[in-house]
Amino acid sequence: MYLLCTIAASLITFLFLKWMKIRRLCMDLKRLDGKTVLITGGSSGIGKETAIALAIRGARVIIACRDEEKAEKAVREIKTISHTINVHHMHIDLANMRSIRDFCKTFLQREKRLDILINNAAMPSVLDWTDDSFSMCFGVNHLGHFLLTNLLLGRLKESAPSRVITLTCSAYKYQKLDFQDLNYNLFPFFTYCRSKLANIYFTQELARMTEGKGVTAYCVHPGYVQSSWTCHYSLLFRVVMQVIMFMFFVSCEAGSQTVVHCAVSDDVVPLSGGYFTDCRPAALRPFAKDSGVARKLWEASERLVKPAA
Ligand SMILES: NC(=O)c1ccc[n+]([C@@H]2O[C@H](COP(=O)([O-])OP(=O)(O)OC[C@H]3O[C@@H](n4cnc5c(N)ncnc54)[C@H](OP(=O)(O)O)[C@@H]3O)[C@@H](O)[C@H]2O)c1
Repeated sequence: MYLLCTIAASLITFLFLKWMKIRRLCMDLKRLDGKTVLITGGSSGIGKETAIALAIRGARVIIACRDEEKAEKAVREIKTISHTINVHHMHIDLANMRSIRDFCKTFLQREKRLDILINNAAMPSVLDWTDDSFSMCFGVNHLGHFLLTNLLLGRLKESAPSRVITLTCSAYKYQKLDFQDLNYNLFPFFTYCRSKLANIYFTQELARMTEGKGVTAYCVHPGYVQSSWTCHYSLLFRVVMQVIMFMFFVSCEAGSQTVVHCAVSDDVVPLSGGYFTDCRPAALRPFAKDSGVARKLWEASERLVKPAA
């Protein structure tokens, strides 16, 4: 009897956890033939699943990655799963501004279109510095994508209607930006939260600046996803997180759904600057909608990376 109760309780718990992990799917089957998609960090996790989903829809997909070997392997995998050959990789290190500039130069020489830019790559909560002495999270997650988007904005406008989708995280709400210390690098989780808040302000200001120019911008919280972000941590942390992720986090495929939705759906077009999760618009905390802060961050970021130089 005791054994039966234990089995029943385990089964109910298991089904409850599975139910919790169900997320909305992108039901829009629009094809992307003739469109070019660029995804940063497309060699793993949500980025790779997004690449697969968009390649299946006929897009030319380019994944921008820092690890050549991993990128080649991912391209082979994306081609096999999507049954397409129009998948490529290019080298970029978002922790190095020179690398971003070189990437953009090559990209603009090679690619005549850019229809969808997906700013997906990110460093999780770590205390480190980029090659240009920015704190790692702020430098890679925000400044790297800020420079990349600015350098590719001309091509996005030429390819209009085009879209910029930036991955953020609902953990943005735990922090605010400190303009006296944008490179805040004290508590790892807080550096990550701030960089993800910066992604939201960046999207809003980009949407404002590109209004009426055929470029729209969205930011996406993908849910809590069982991806490879734990690889930056100790073995003990990885083991504990594997268990937690197995129970509570969704698959990378499920995590990619809102990104795919923002990439293909016509419904999102009037909602440029919006924050999306679960394939629908979501509310932001009031402080994260402050257009004055968004403008101030844009100007501060311009001073730090000098996109026009
Ligand atoms: N997983 C979640 O629960 C979760 C929740 C909310 C938001 N997000 C967001 O979703 C996005 C994707 O995350 P994920 O979960 O798929 O993580 P992931 O599996 O760790 O993927 C991150 C990707 O970013 C790349 N990257 C890191 N630093 C880079 C650099 N300096 N230059 C170029 N590429 C770099 C990584 O490349 P390497 O393989 O070379 O390291 C990797 O391909 C991130 O923006 C993340 O903040 C994730």
